[in-house]
Amino acid sequence: MGTIGRMTAQATAEPTGCFVVPDDAETVVEARNLAKRFPTGVDAVRGINLRIGRGEFFGLLGPNGAGKSTTVGMLTSMVTPTGGSAFIEGIDVAAHPARAKAQLGVVPQTNTLDRSLTVLENLVFHGRYFGMSKKVARSEAQRLLAQFRLDERAHAQVAALSGGMAQRLMAARAIMHRPSVLFLDEPTAGLDPQSRIALWEIIQELHSHGQTVVLTTHYMEEAEDLCERVAIIDQGRIIALDSPEALKASLGAARFAAVSVSGQAADFAAAAERELAVVLDATAESDTKVRLSLRSGTGVLAQLLGVAETAGTTVTDYSISEPTLETVFISLTGKELRE
Ligand SMILES: Nc1ncnc2c1ncn2[C@@H]1O[C@H](COP(=O)(O)OP(=O)(O)OP(=O)(O)O)[C@@H](O)[C@H]1O
Ligand SMILES: [Mg+2]
Repeated sequence: MGTIGRMTAQATAEPTGCFVVPDDAETVVEARNLAKRFPTGVDAVRGINLRIGRGEFFGLLGPNGAGKSTTVGMLTSMVTPTGGSAFIEGIDVAAHPARAKAQLGVVPQTNTLDRSLTVLENLVFHGRYFGMSKKVARSEAQRLLAQFRLDERAHAQVAALSGGMAQRLMAARAIMHRPSVLFLDEPTAGLDPQSRIALWEIIQELHSHGQTVVLTTHYMEEAEDLCERVAIIDQGRIIALDSPEALKASLGAARFAAVSVSGQAADFAAAAERELAVVLDATAESDTKVRLSLRSGTGVLAQLLGVAETAGTTVTDYSISEPTLETVFISLTGKELRE
């Protein structure tokens, strides 16, 4: 299994800008110059290269319309690429979709449960589709329902499930055939906090037992808390890829400050940058707002108040924060992750 895909992959020259998995990890998911132009002319994905290692919890983080779902679609055989290739366990996804599908599970962004079936039946039918015997499918389904805290709902109609329960059932169904890799496309969008936490507990437990997980999200906290490596995607391209810690460290600033002044923001920004050693960069975002990156966070407010006075303005609001993936995104794109 997968020999053809592997041979093709090896015969191809290493594309430039390919982000390589850590040396000790075996590649489970690979994208090579993967691209999608929809018939409408929209370039949703513009040449993505990545490798995801066995057992990794990998995140695709990006704003609405960045191309996350299209990327997952191509990695899971649901979207046909217009350029490049996707491999799962070395299997070329476009060339051998059925073989690839046996190795992957997907929780898509929309509810795709079968409403004519019960909770249990949704799992059993899925297992049968992937060649499980009735007996094995049933016992596996029951085991998963307990693990996903849905056992009391086994015989309920799926229409009667809450959003959080439906999402857990989709995740259970996605791993029913024991795939190498589980893809989750914004699984917590629209869920209440409790349901989000419940889903994450289960996914983290699966991961702790070695499950490779690929998660797309536009919640930077989610990517930061859960993912071992994150690819930041914007306008169909990977603009950064590393561990959350390394991405944040790449900013080179220990703290960020947002300062509101009564006016003369540009003068204040220029003075802060010129006069204060702690300030790495100060940018006026409007007449009254300045964003600063700082070498450290201690004693900064007093210094900024002094500079405001010389610049002929008054500080009306001040907040300081540690670097986050949001700050990484802002520094790379000049815009915020969430519109
Ligand atoms: N079937 C389609 N036909 C035409 N354009 C599409 C299609 N699907 C997606 N697009 C466009 O491709 C781009 C990327 O969309 P995609 O759904 O992959 O983004 P996303 O990162 O998943 O966004 P979201 O956070 O909103 O789910 C967007 O401009 C979108 O409008
Ligand atoms: Mg999407």
